[in-house]
Amino acid sequence: MNSPLLHRHHLMNTAHRPAQIFIRGEGAWLYDAEGRRYLDWMQGWAVNALGHAPAPVAAALAAQAGTLLTASPALHNAPALELAARLCQLSDFDQVFFASSGAEANEGAIKLARKWGRLHRAGAHQIITFGRAFHGRTLAAMAASGKPGWDALFPPGMPGFARAEFNNLESVERLIGPRTVAVMLEPVQGEAGVIPADAEFMRGLRQLCDQRGLLLIVDEVQTGCGRTGPLFAYQHYGIRPDIMTLGKGLGGGVPISALLATDRVSCFEPGDQGGTYCGNPLVCAAALAVLETLTAPAFLETAWRHGELLADGLRSLSREFALGEVRGSGMLWALELGRNTAPLIAAAAMDAGLLLNAPHPHCLRFMPPLNSSAAEIETGLSLLAEALAHYA
Ligand SMILES: Cc1ncc(COP(=O)(O)O)c(C=O)c1O
Repeated sequence: MNSPLLHRHHLMNTAHRPAQIFIRGEGAWLYDAEGRRYLDWMQGWAVNALGHAPAPVAAALAAQAGTLLTASPALHNAPALELAARLCQLSDFDQVFFASSGAEANEGAIKLARKWGRLHRAGAHQIITFGRAFHGRTLAAMAASGKPGWDALFPPGMPGFARAEFNNLESVERLIGPRTVAVMLEPVQGEAGVIPADAEFMRGLRQLCDQRGLLLIVDEVQTGCGRTGPLFAYQHYGIRPDIMTLGKGLGGGVPISALLATDRVSCFEPGDQGGTYCGNPLVCAAALAVLETLTAPAFLETAWRHGELLADGLRSLSREFALGEVRGSGMLWALELGRNTAPLIAAAAMDAGLLLNAPHPHCLRFMPPLNSSAAEIETGLSLLAEALAHYA
């Protein structure tokens, strides 16, 4: 039989992909067409909160697929109504808009802040974002991001953003002007290499936004839905943001994202925002199943304990191989290597049967499923040790 790889030239060349074709996933494990299995600590870049093909999501999708796939975003459907209510109940927000990707949710957050500025702040529209931030790949989300080199990629860039330094409150204060409407940040900068916002910085931002009449937007596309420990990472800090975006883990592998806002800020009117697939019942049913699992008794506590096991293991590997800092919380961690060996180590790990992400040449990122067992964490750590031994 001809390998489907023969067709790869028909795919646009947007990523360096290894030669394996992955055909099946089960929990923490991913299987290739040759029957080889890999412990997957990428999980679609922190998408599969419950691992591959989780039974509650599969069941919810099957039931919903046989009932109603899509009606119209201009008609009510029960899963979207229930999901919106559940998200509000579990968070500090009052209203939700559903979309399909993280970038799209952030696009909505930017529009909402701009509209609020038009209505309440005399047309203020500028949003302060941060160096090394990642908010997605639409043009507005790219302009909001601080990924080095992105400014020059698809000129002209979208105006309306100013860039401050992460964890530096003064750098934010300096940028605030009459046109500033909001500050937008990831509570933990994931793509930058798992850099958490300091508690003092986050609380200072909330205070500053209150004093200067600005909105605080948290992009929890990566950190939300239990990834860093609590259901939402802003809950680490004891603050209440005005706007939050979710994606990735929310659908447990199914493309759904959400924009949440407090009543004070939620000012969209019919026609302001929409999309063909926004809030369709199929993806909302999947997200409801994910939330039900994440909020089951002891689920997040167990994930936290197993995340600590992972962190302890990473710290001891760091000592053994004379590597650098271990950063993160919950099931989102990074290991600094102190040298540019991350791509080599990720390749060696794949050979050993462990899928890892190297967001930077000097840093590895770990995103196991939240329901990883202690035994799976131990297995991953010993496969990682094998890979590290090659490049110590
Ligand atoms: C913090 C954050 N925001 C937004 C996005 C973009 O999400 P998506 O790729 O679903 O558009 C990502 C993706 O990695 C992310 O980590």
